[in-house]
Amino acid sequence: MTARPAEPLIGFRGVGKTFQVEGRTVEAVREVELEVRRGEFITLVGPSGCGKSTLLNMTAGLFSPSVGEVRYSGRPVTGINQATGYMTQNDHLLPWRTVAANIQVPLEIRGRPRSEMRDKVAELMELVGLAGFERSYPAQLSGGMRKRVALARLLAYDPETLLLDEPFAALDAQLRVNMQVELLRLSRQLGKTVLFVTHDLDEAAALCDRCVVFSPRPGMVRRVLDSPLPRERDLLRLRRDPRWQEMAAELWDLITPMLASREERAE
Ligand SMILES: Nc1ncnc2c1ncn2[C@@H]1O[C@H](COP(=O)(O)OP(=O)(O)OP(=O)(O)O)[C@@H](O)[C@H]1O
Ligand SMILES: [Mg+2]
Repeated sequence: MTARPAEPLIGFRGVGKTFQVEGRTVEAVREVELEVRRGEFITLVGPSGCGKSTLLNMTAGLFSPSVGEVRYSGRPVTGINQATGYMTQNDHLLPWRTVAANIQVPLEIRGRPRSEMRDKVAELMELVGLAGFERSYPAQLSGGMRKRVALARLLAYDPETLLLDEPFAALDAQLRVNMQVELLRLSRQLGKTVLFVTHDLDEAAALCDRCVVFSPRPGMVRRVLDSPLPRERDLLRLRRDPRWQEMAAELWDLITPMLASREERAE
């Protein structure tokens, strides 16, 4: 039997999206063509308002494209895409539940037996480095710990694909690196496919297998850069790695003129 090239896990085919806002038409993205292979870590960068979150929303099946098609696992996405887990910038933890009870939510929704839930929550707490904080409430945690709870809860759904919208934007530099290390390790270990939106170009270059750079709105794919780094990488030592420096600089070169042109338009 001849092997057929497998269809990518996620495919954006000529995707455009326009919104009607108070009688105005806003074109968010235009003619987006992109294929994401299973297990890839893709970072998405581009000026504010270029449609990055809109693309995640369409992948999750929350919005449908105005033109073109978003495909997932060989089929068009037509409703909520159960294979994806979505983490927005806001962690949306339930304040009246303990850490363990928050992580348990997806398992309860699925009606898993009590003993299985207990084991799974313990495993996830361990995985995100929060063992010992099971009985704490969200208000008693630092911002970074809350993010880790949100990540553990997302993983409790065990989604095939993680859609992460600026998940670490609110964290201080050191915590951010810790979370990046953790996310990269977890996504590799669990074989996840990741779409990761960020405004931090250094972060985009550090984490990705490929980085997609969008134009200002309407967002179009301006460039797709392959990471020169090996998949197994030490994020703590990247600062001195010329390959990372080169990629981050290239991203800055691509984005800076977009910011300048935006200022001109605003005048
Ligand atoms: N539900 C909606 N209704 C109306 N307009 C929307 C909606 N969602 C997004 N838009 C518009 O579409 C455009 C793209 O928005 P989107 O949130 O996808 O951008 P973004 O790239 O994620 O921006 P940021 O980097 O600031 O988060 C914006 O002009 C926004 O106002
Ligand atoms: Mg956004």
